[in-house]
Amino acid sequence: MIEIFAGKGSSKYKICITNKSIPKKELNKNIKKNAKILIITDSGIPKKYIKSLKNSISNKVVKVHTIKNGENAKSFKTFEEIVKVLADLKFSRTDLIIALGGGVVGDVAGFCSSAFLRGIDYIQIPTTLLSQVDSSVGGKTAINIPQGKNLVGAFYNPKLVLISTNYLETLSDEEYKSGLGEVVKYALIENKKLRNLIKELNKKIIKRDKKVLLEIIKESILTKSKIVTKDEKESGIRAILNFGHTFGHAIEAYTNYKKMSHGAAITLGMVIAAKISFFEGYLKEHQLMNAIGLINSIGLDTDHSEFKYSDLKKYIMNDKKVADGNLNLILINEKYKAFKTSKFNQESILKAFKF
Ligand SMILES: NC(=O)c1ccc[n+]([C@@H]2O[C@H](COP(=O)([O-])OP(=O)(O)OC[C@H]3O[C@@H](n4cnc5c(N)ncnc54)[C@H](O)[C@@H]3O)[C@@H](O)[C@H]2O)c1
Ligand SMILES: [Zn+2]
Repeated sequence: MIEIFAGKGSSKYKICITNKSIPKKELNKNIKKNAKILIITDSGIPKKYIKSLKNSISNKVVKVHTIKNGENAKSFKTFEEIVKVLADLKFSRTDLIIALGGGVVGDVAGFCSSAFLRGIDYIQIPTTLLSQVDSSVGGKTAINIPQGKNLVGAFYNPKLVLISTNYLETLSDEEYKSGLGEVVKYALIENKKLRNLIKELNKKIIKRDKKVLLEIIKESILTKSKIVTKDEKESGIRAILNFGHTFGHAIEAYTNYKKMSHGAAITLGMVIAAKISFFEGYLKEHQLMNAIGLINSIGLDTDHSEFKYSDLKKYIMNDKKVADGNLNLILINEKYKAFKTSKFNQESILKAFKF
């Protein structure tokens, strides 16, 4: 089992990664002081995972609350539903929530944990690749409102994160690839070891080889946990985790979140941002081609030609990285290190879209 820590001071937490089943000992050690437990999961998670999680918890009152699967469940309605269940179960500050599912379950369960009684403990057990390498670490919790995604939420660290590659066996290809999009992101914004792993083991990654998955999840989390621990509330360096996201979010919004997964959209966003980095002189042409090749090598689509800048512009300017009307971009340099900048030639964006 691999152990990594994130967070500071009293909100520091352990992340355990294994290619066996969830470590019972670790789980039970961490819930010793909690009397009641509510597992929050969604209707798309295979039932066997819920059953086996329940079976691995000793001597506790364990209830399960299942929300509908899909992004629509990250809503006020679900928030209300869950906090009412907690109140009906007479949850106190010594009780605990376990989020068993992808980013949707993690975000909404985490937000309920942050708000109920002004904060109760929660454990993340992420079951999608995206949630294992990204959303379960960093303490961002949220729900969506009609005005926008993730507009209501809190920074609230979990008590523990337990990751098992076993869960990934039942994940659809689309969801798996969505998570790979975030994995490549860590490789391109700073993690050289991850870049080498992808280069050398891309076929095994596509086949979901468990040993290789363990390594790529570990490297992804090492990068994510380092950055979010340095900048818990996103006032600086954390912005680089948004590499590809300004354009990716714009593609998602332009296509009404229906055409492709988050990871597929940000993959195209990363290609666009890498091309801008090239036109701005931060990357040489062969380095740009290497970056695109890396993305392609694990079966991700890099062709963004169907999206025009003129169509995406209004969504791009809506991005949270637009400060006082100035667009900030996350670009990468020759060492594949990401940085934020507001100084760039507008022409480079236009060229990148056409290149
Ligand atoms: N908090 C953060 O830092 C952060 C970061 C990135 C993304 N997010 C959020 O994460 C959400 C997306 O998360 P996601 O990509 O995990 O999607 P998701 O939670 O919607 O899960 C995708 C689908 O896979 C199913 N599923 C989950 N685990 C499965 C398994 N092991 N086997 C079979 N099916 C399974 C789910 O039921 C669902 O239908 C978005 O709402 C996004 O805003 C949050
Ligand atoms: Zn993302």
